[in-house]
Amino acid sequence: MSERDKTKWDAKYRERRKLLDRMEPARFVREFYPLAPGNRAIDLACGGGRNAIFLAQKGFEVDAVDISSVAIEALKAKAAGLAVHPLCADLDSFEPKAGVYDLALMINFLDRGLLRRMAEAIGPGGVIVVETYMKHPENEKAGNPDFLLNPGELRDFFGERFETLAYEEFWNGDEESYRMRKQGIAVKKSADV
Ligand SMILES: C[S@@+](CC[C@H](N)C(=O)[O-])C[C@H]1O[C@@H](n2cnc3c(N)ncnc32)[C@H](O)[C@@H]1O
Repeated sequence: MSERDKTKWDAKYRERRKLLDRMEPARFVREFYPLAPGNRAIDLACGGGRNAIFLAQKGFEVDAVDISSVAIEALKAKAAGLAVHPLCADLDSFEPKAGVYDLALMINFLDRGLLRRMAEAIGPGGVIVVETYMKHPENEKAGNPDFLLNPGELRDFFGERFETLAYEEFWNGDEESYRMRKQGIAVKKSADV
């Protein structure tokens, strides 16, 4: 387990509980979840679970994975009675089950190796939604450049193997703490694979 990530995020969530109370789902999740061909979903780096809970309320069964046990315990309490299955795991090495999901999310998190594993996790006709931060000189927070997308990166990564349903580079809204440029993409896996 990436102990440093776990310690950092557990401490952050303990100190700023309101990060776990956020409920409004990410824009690309709201807009593109209806295109999933079925109701099995996985939310990778789910945090407090705003996107997982939203999907469960729309009838999905959601596996929700995060390294922070503080976030996972909060999600268990919040999602009681909903079809959300929270799991504490390190996404550096986590292998989602292959070919079973109709929808896979990675929101406000970037692991390029995991992008490849996500592509395996979804079944034929399945949808992947990624929305996260990118490099831009006017970003309010510098952030670690390794975790920021390059211009056009998501479009180029998925472009050849998937049907792109939507791709956009945009400024985030007031619901996030710092003004940051983001990239969002929704892609569909071919139904014949
Ligand atoms: C900015 S939060 C995003 C949470 C959620 N996706 C959302 O949009 O509200 C990033 C999340 O990534 C998780 N994370 C960081 N490194 C991780 C790792 N190696 N494995 C699993 N989760 C990790 C953190 O615990 C944190 O919850």
